[in-house]
Amino acid sequence: MAEQPYCPAMSTNTISLSQETGKPVTAPSVQASKNGDKICCMTAYDYSSGLIADAAGMDVVLVGDSLAMVVLGHEDTLSVTVDEMIHHVRATSRGVKRALLVADMPFMSFCTVDKALHNGGRLISEGGARAVKLEGGVAVVPQIEALTQAGIPVMAHVGLTPQHVARFGGFKAQGKSAEATKALLEDAQAVEEAGAFCVVLEAIPVEAAQLITEAIDIPTIGIGAGNVTDGQVLVYHDVLGLFDRFTPKFVRQYASQGEEGIKALEQYCKDVRSGWFPAEKNTIYMPDDQMEQVRKIKVKKKK
Ligand code: KIV
Repeated sequence: MAEQPYCPAMSTNTISLSQETGKPVTAPSVQASKNGDKICCMTAYDYSSGLIADAAGMDVVLVGDSLAMVVLGHEDTLSVTVDEMIHHVRATSRGVKRALLVADMPFMSFCTVDKALHNGGRLISEGGARAVKLEGGVAVVPQIEALTQAGIPVMAHVGLTPQHVARFGGFKAQGKSAEATKALLEDAQAVEEAGAFCVVLEAIPVEAAQLITEAIDIPTIGIGAGNVTDGQVLVYHDVLGLFDRFTPKFVRQYASQGEEGIKALEQYCKDVRSGWFPAEKNTIYMPDDQMEQVRKIKVKKKK
């Protein structure tokens, strides 16, 4: 096994960025935490998952376009629309009060600078997000520049960018050669230069993640990039065991809510069928003073 690369000392700090300052997390506070405490990021897609992620102490809550797969049941992330994203970002924003709320820009919604500004603006003003995320490196520099200049903080995303699944030929790890690592580094440096406040590194070798993390001054948020990045992000449904179509190697599942949910709903069916539910405490009774009148109601028999 390869020697473990750069492993920052394990920290005992479990406090989020905002708990330290007492203020909501902002894009500048995330950016400023480079080389500080690890940044905790989780996806969420609606009011209740946003509420749970926020209450758990996430620094960043991302309404990812993984929504397409884990919530809407699509095969990949390509078919989710800006309107669908806005609908879910708005719901999530009602649950997230402290963490930084970031909205993913869906496939083809930022393919020109004009589209990026139009759709990025909608995710902020209609959805209530405080930043957007978009996939790509060198190729999306003009979009990142335009968005940041318009006042929209941008989280970049390089490595395995799921919107390029057709070009990659599947959800495959990236950067697995020196040449590919060099290209990834160029992408990361380009998005930093363009004004991104942080960058997601997805499914790349830990050695490439280390090289990039040390080479740039904005935080790296890893998903399948080892323990060397400035923060981590995972998909809510993967962490809680709510999505079982496949589980990438880099996921750690912390609960089995899918299985728990099935068991609970099976019990509900049994209780309904046996008459055990609803019980007396779940039942609404007529006030005593109305009972006499109720008994007098004539029920017409059907012919
Ligand atoms: O869409 C998503 O959930 C993402 C994260 C996994 C980074 O892009």
